[in-house]
Amino acid sequence: MTPFPTLGILGGGQLGKMMALAAARMNVNARFLAPRDAGPMSTFADCTVADWTAAHVLRPFAEGCDAVTVESEWAPAGPMSEVLPDETALWPAPGTVGVIKHKGRQMTRLRKAGLPLPSFRCCRALDEALAAARDLGYPVVLKQYEGSYDGYGNATATGDDELRSAWDDLAADDGLLVENLVSFECELSVLVARRPGGESIVYPVARTVQRDHRCHAVEVPARISGEALNEAKRVGREAVDAVEGVGITAAELFLADDGRILVNELAPRPHNTGHYTIDASRASQFENHVRAVLDWPLGDPSLKAPAAVMVNVLGRRQHTPPDASGLPEALDVPGASVHVYGKPEVRPNRKMGHVTVVGDDLGEARERAGQAAERIRL
Ligand SMILES: Nc1ncnc2c1ncn2[C@@H]1O[C@H](COP(=O)(O)OP(=O)(O)OP(=O)(O)O)[C@@H](O)[C@H]1O
Ligand SMILES: [Mg+2]
Repeated sequence: MTPFPTLGILGGGQLGKMMALAAARMNVNARFLAPRDAGPMSTFADCTVADWTAAHVLRPFAEGCDAVTVESEWAPAGPMSEVLPDETALWPAPGTVGVIKHKGRQMTRLRKAGLPLPSFRCCRALDEALAAARDLGYPVVLKQYEGSYDGYGNATATGDDELRSAWDDLAADDGLLVENLVSFECELSVLVARRPGGESIVYPVARTVQRDHRCHAVEVPARISGEALNEAKRVGREAVDAVEGVGITAAELFLADDGRILVNELAPRPHNTGHYTIDASRASQFENHVRAVLDWPLGDPSLKAPAAVMVNVLGRRQHTPPDASGLPEALDVPGASVHVYGKPEVRPNRKMGHVTVVGDDLGEARERAGQAAERIRL
């Protein structure tokens, strides 16, 4: 008898919810642990809200799990590994999560592996940062090593004065990252699903459209040259190999004005730029994440149709519980596939859901996805 596996998920937000939905299709049982009631996970029965760094919480959570995975780089992969039962796998490995969650360590690892990156320096003190910026040439981007998301934690400096004030805002005890401001044609994303033995598949290259440093929309396939597409896939795969990612690892890339593909950053988990795969791909990023962390054969990442566009639904209201106003109107847009995460509170610019439209024509898909996302009033 081979029982159906149980997958432990550290985290309870929308990524965990979508992992668990993919798992449920294969009758893989999902179990959540989160430090507070995250909302999205409450669709599922087996949820624990507790101090997820404590051994006495982690140990019983992992018992009976065939594999444990993380929803984000901030989940306690290290503490989990210390109490993990022998028969339970933990993917991605804590080493991978530890490298990715610190932008300095991540960039240093990728540089050692020979991957193309913006020029950068890890700076411990303001003097070093000033010297680095003059050396690299202004403008530069300053990045907090840990804890940033949606561009919070980054600043651009065009001269010494701006750098000084950004340093005061952003630098931690170990300083911050100073890197070249890349002038790019567009931003791309490559998702890689990788099994523990190293076997991997790569999703089609997606183009990400940012607004106010936030992902607004994703278009697939990216309309760039064949050469750039191949290079993006090569770089994505090699970057994920370099950190030994298991499950889905996302590579955010720049297509620079000079034609080079550069790595911006990695994420050790399913990614916002891959949400389109639920509706548009033969196997979604969430399904392949589940398969990979259970060391099961990977599914086909190819598109079922010529084009797909995903548009994020961001919160507009201030601190209110979400409701379904606008949802039927959004569903009325032909071809719109609407996803609502179930977060307990709306906040401005918070990711509340997304809409995907799959079709023959990228322009039409973009139009319809934008229209449906606009109708949801959260
Ligand atoms: N070196 C750079 N040159 C030009 N633009 C950059 C650079 N680094 C970051 N950016 C811009 O800022 C955005 C956010 O940067 P980054 O991905 O480092 O931030 P984050 O807060 O960790 O990420 P996320 O938005 O993915 O949660 C990028 O998508 C890009 O538009
Ligand atoms: Mg980013």
